[in-house]
Amino acid sequence: MLGSGGLPVEPNPCRVTSGSDPSLHHAIAIDGPAASGKSTLAKRLAGKLGLIMVNSGAMYRAITWKTLREGIDPHDAAGVVAMLDRISIRCGDDGIGSTITIDGVDPGEQLRGEEVNANVSAVAAIPGVRRKLIGLQRGYLDRSSIVMEGRDIGSVVFPETPFKIYVDAAEHVRAARRGDEGQVDSIARRDALDSARATAPLVVAPGAVVLDTTDLDIDAAVDAAVAILRRQGFPVPD
Ligand code: CDP
Repeated sequence: MLGSGGLPVEPNPCRVTSGSDPSLHHAIAIDGPAASGKSTLAKRLAGKLGLIMVNSGAMYRAITWKTLREGIDPHDAAGVVAMLDRISIRCGDDGIGSTITIDGVDPGEQLRGEEVNANVSAVAAIPGVRRKLIGLQRGYLDRSSIVMEGRDIGSVVFPETPFKIYVDAAEHVRAARRGDEGQVDSIARRDALDSARATAPLVVAPGAVVLDTTDLDIDAAVDAAVAILRRQGFPVPD
């Protein structure tokens, strides 16, 4: 099966059919570079709109975590893809946000560790990894309406959705935000790798509105995002 963006998509083991009609479900795509505030904004929007927030980056991080645990070189594309055939990836949600376990283990805080930060862009550049995860990501929309954040949500995962925001902020502000979170993370290096890769690079998707949060606190960013979604036709309650 060929998905949007020409990527073949594998069958989805996480697909769960709910009672509601999937054709009525909406996907809000929030993309942007590292530490731009996507997660916080996506969480707040999902809470306000009563939608599930899906963190696609956590999926790439979980595969990276497993790769490192297995002692596989993150640049060994064949080795990483062979690992995908051996492991069990379960994704779901807790009623608020997405969850993921690998072989029954929730990696938790280890997903934001220095080693994962340093290697996730290499793993995310592997086409076989993206094929696998895009199938899982699309499965969420079968269950409910979602706010999904990542790098390629508006361009590749849900290119047909009219609801797309690209969140950006000046690099020094993003670096400071990541430092405030107590993380060691070379965001400039990750952005360069994510933007330059051949498969599903970080881009402003066609139809996405850029929201620059350099000078905005989170409340102002949420207000601005809601205004964008209203203009894009999303049924935001008053
Ligand atoms: O939170 P932060 O913006 O630092 O990163 P993240 O959203 O957790 O994503 C971590 C990494 O996963 C990114 O640097 C990308 O390499 C990769 N990623 C991706 O390739 N595509 C996505 N849709 C989401 C994340």
